[in-house]
Amino acid sequence: MKRAAELSSSRRRGWLIPCLLLAACQLPATDVVSRFPPWWEYGGAAPVTSAAHGMVVAAEPHASRVGRDVLAAGGNAVDAAVATSLALAVTYPQAGNIGGGGFLLARFADGRAAAVDYREQAPAAATRDMYLAADGALTDRSLYGALAAGVPGTVAGLWAAHQRFGSQPWEDLVAPAIELAEHGFEPGRELRQGVRKVLERIAGFDAERRRACAQTVSTFAPALQPGPFRQPELAATLRRIAASGPAGFYDGPVAEALARSMRTAGGLITTEDLERYAAEWREPLRWHYRDHTVLGMPPSSSGGAVMTLMANMLQRYALPDMAWDDPGRIHLSIEAMKRAYADRNAYLGDPAFVDMPLERLLSTAYADERAAGIDRRRATPSTEVAPGLGPAFGRGEQTTHFSIADGSGNAVSVTTTLNTSFGSLVSVEGFLLNNEMDDFAARPGFPNAYGLVQGEANAIEPGKRMLSSMSPSIVLDPDGELLLVTGTPGGSRIISVVFQSIVNALDHGMGVGQLVAAPRVHHQHLPDVLYYEAGGLTAEVVSDLRRRGHDVRAREHFCDVQAIVVLPDGSLTGAADPRGGGLAAGY
Ligand code: GLY
Repeated sequence: MKRAAELSSSRRRGWLIPCLLLAACQLPATDVVSRFPPWWEYGGAAPVTSAAHGMVVAAEPHASRVGRDVLAAGGNAVDAAVATSLALAVTYPQAGNIGGGGFLLARFADGRAAAVDYREQAPAAATRDMYLAADGALTDRSLYGALAAGVPGTVAGLWAAHQRFGSQPWEDLVAPAIELAEHGFEPGRELRQGVRKVLERIAGFDAERRRACAQTVSTFAPALQPGPFRQPELAATLRRIAASGPAGFYDGPVAEALARSMRTAGGLITTEDLERYAAEWREPLRWHYRDHTVLGMPPSSSGGAVMTLMANMLQRYALPDMAWDDPGRIHLSIEAMKRAYADRNAYLGDPAFVDMPLERLLSTAYADERAAGIDRRRATPSTEVAPGLGPAFGRGEQTTHFSIADGSGNAVSVTTTLNTSFGSLVSVEGFLLNNEMDDFAARPGFPNAYGLVQGEANAIEPGKRMLSSMSPSIVLDPDGELLLVTGTPGGSRIISVVFQSIVNALDHGMGVGQLVAAPRVHHQHLPDVLYYEAGGLTAEVVSDLRRRGHDVRAREHFCDVQAIVVLPDGSLTGAADPRGGGLAAGY
């Protein structure tokens, strides 16, 4: 208990310093102590926005401002989440969507918490081996084209959250997205680059796939022309959603057009699949780390479970006493990641289909057993890190995250996705369809787009939700008060990077600007590689990790964390990841 008290007070000191500096200087909030390499592209910290009443941090500035304006007009955090998410479907079509899915995690000032799972589902006609060629090899049909799409969940999920917790009229929350689609907006560099890449990729497809992607070309090519980028078909679809709620999407002309486009382009989604789709309310997972409580997403996300296991393993080490870039600390974190991802890949899946040993996986006794195999000096090869419960019981690259705090102590953390950038590249009625089917283990034991090697628990079955790594998270301080709202895109790296954003705050006292800028590492069991961000670790640290037996490789910058930290005086600080083009908008 004494140890916990010390940790807590040292954490508070970590927060206090930036607060005092802020009060004294009235400068834009930046964080103090930085130990990142001097050449680190993002310096010591990202720019920080401070606000007294409300904050939205999203990956695209128009969307952040839409959410902020909803808060300023008296809406609550859930209202702002609905409006921000729909605005992202217009201004950040790489990942913002109505043709994909996501998770919304909410925590209210009175202590209640709730989570909506609006993950996509396999269509009823899906089969286990639908992406295998005649010789058994995995094809790329789970990634591009109509067959890659799962039944979308976003409109149902946002509606469910709004029905239960929203305070403003639904149509008022859809209106800003309609306005952006109808009258257009100036596309940023990220969108233009994304569109250029997509058009190049589609141009390289065979004639049949090019035909399936024709609407995507006609919708997005105008984004490369000077002037505002308008999406009139999407505006029309959003108007139906504004007027009729989910019926405007899952029923009637939009649903019929979607099913028709599937029939002509070789996809499986039918009007019955759309009618049957339902968002699911889930009990948020609660895990604990150094006297703090973290609310996370349960399956069909793997995020909350993997972070719980990692936290339980790492609690036994005095990580806060080690510097952020201490190779010994990185080694222990990586060893915990390796073991937790091994279990993820073997055991986790859609709870409606898979009998998961969750109670055991989340227990401290199990974490103790798992951590007992960690050697502080040597990396354990992944081949020796089998899933810890024996044979399986039965199991950004474009996603986007936004964080919201409404100043009354309510917070919403949302991660939403089409899977890879621009999803399946197939559009219908002005919106893109996801390629989320690739998140299944299309060939159990073989890697998917993220290199994840997953098992039978995540094999394709009709009506099943594919296992996700999306990890919207909300951290409460030892008194149960809101402290941090965080999340990121990044495929399999989502879990490890969200975890690092949390421990960087709790163990190393990083403020919001620093925790979004901090260099990142990742390990997912297979491949047996320790990835770090190029330029993020010094040559000495890399050599030390190699001496411990890690296969250390640099990758280009990964993920796009959007975070909010509540300061001890109750004011809000937010920062968008400097790797992306996001904005923290407060008032
Ligand atoms: N599509 C990425 C994920 O859900 O993990």
